[in-house]
Amino acid sequence: MTRMDVYLDNSATTKVDQKVVEAMLPYFTERFGNPSSIHSKGVEAREAVERAREQVAKLINAKPSEIVFTSGGTESDNLAIIGAAKAANSDESKRNAVVCSNVEHPAVLNTCKDLVASGFSFSEAKVNSEGILKTSEVQSHISKQTAVASVMLANNEIGTIQPVAAVAKLCHEQGALMHTDAVQAVGKIPIDVKKLNVDLLSLASHKFHGPKGVGALFIREGVKIKPIFGGGGHERGLRSGTENVPGIVGLGAAAKIAAEDLSNDIPRMAALRNRLISGLSGLSRAFLNGSRDQRLPNNANMRFLGVEGEALITLLDEEGICASTGSACSSKKLRASHVLLALGLADWEAHGSLRLTLSRFSTKDEIDYALEKIPKAVTTLRRMSPVWAKLERGEKIEDVKDGGHIH
Ligand SMILES: Cc1ncc(COP(=O)(O)O)c(C=O)c1O
Repeated sequence: MTRMDVYLDNSATTKVDQKVVEAMLPYFTERFGNPSSIHSKGVEAREAVERAREQVAKLINAKPSEIVFTSGGTESDNLAIIGAAKAANSDESKRNAVVCSNVEHPAVLNTCKDLVASGFSFSEAKVNSEGILKTSEVQSHISKQTAVASVMLANNEIGTIQPVAAVAKLCHEQGALMHTDAVQAVGKIPIDVKKLNVDLLSLASHKFHGPKGVGALFIREGVKIKPIFGGGGHERGLRSGTENVPGIVGLGAAAKIAAEDLSNDIPRMAALRNRLISGLSGLSRAFLNGSRDQRLPNNANMRFLGVEGEALITLLDEEGICASTGSACSSKKLRASHVLLALGLADWEAHGSLRLTLSRFSTKDEIDYALEKIPKAVTTLRRMSPVWAKLERGEKIEDVKDGGHIH
């Protein structure tokens, strides 16, 4: 097979849709106004921002007035959690606890942990070996002291989809707010904030063919949160700073395309994802990480025992395939992802993981190319792997526990 460029790292980021680029361009040049200016250039920019707000709201079945633009997923998560925690703590209820799952993105996990320094208690609800949160587990963490609970809609590494509506019900029974990080779910599954019953929802444009550095937070009407930036009071006082107009226009355009195309994209991506999983599951000692059914249509996260994930990524890159692994390389050591460890995997098992994430631009030819190259790369690496040799001899593998993360 001739060499191809195959991008299978769409959970890290996606290609900006050409139609999105075209929608954005005029807002860098002739329509460069500040939306706060009252002259015609300002009005033109304000109209573009409000149109984008409608487009984003429509994608998740919210009202435009419930959308606040931010710089992306990380900021939306911080604004939701810190903003909700501080608001709940300053009203008469004096709630002082935050809860999240143990497979959250660091934008949620570290934000919750950091609140401990401001006097909040923090607890983590644990997923099962399929990467799914059981409501009984969440229930034991939520009380009348809980200000906000944050449970992601879909996981960025293993693509598992959490029972967010059920968790929201538990939160509301205790008077707590519910936030969901939907950064990986938008553009991959239908999202309806009314059905999910959440108070706060984060999304990021670059994960669904929009530009980087722009996102949004849905804040249900009537829900009170405090801003995290001081400033001129933009975005209803919740997010000060001159709006990133071209970025917001791009986010709006990406949201419009996602809303229109989702019903076609989902079965197409799922069919290709299934082809990938079936093809790779045929390899010896190869397993799917996370639930087979409750997962995003674009995510295949496989582990190949006896393979070092980073080495596999390098070999695949030489063949033109971009993918991710289950390890994050810090300056000193290679750390297995906290998500894979949360499934109960040993460090050495987690290290052999490969995350392949599709987009609506992925094709059957690309998947077939990957299905030819990945098994070859796995075999090459296993031939020189001491872990594989031990496994083949039936020996026990020693492990050292540690934790890291991938995007
Ligand atoms: C689940 C999840 N939340 C939050 C983020 C952060 O988003 P951003 O890169 O827009 O700050 C990411 C990005 O990888 C993510 O996957």
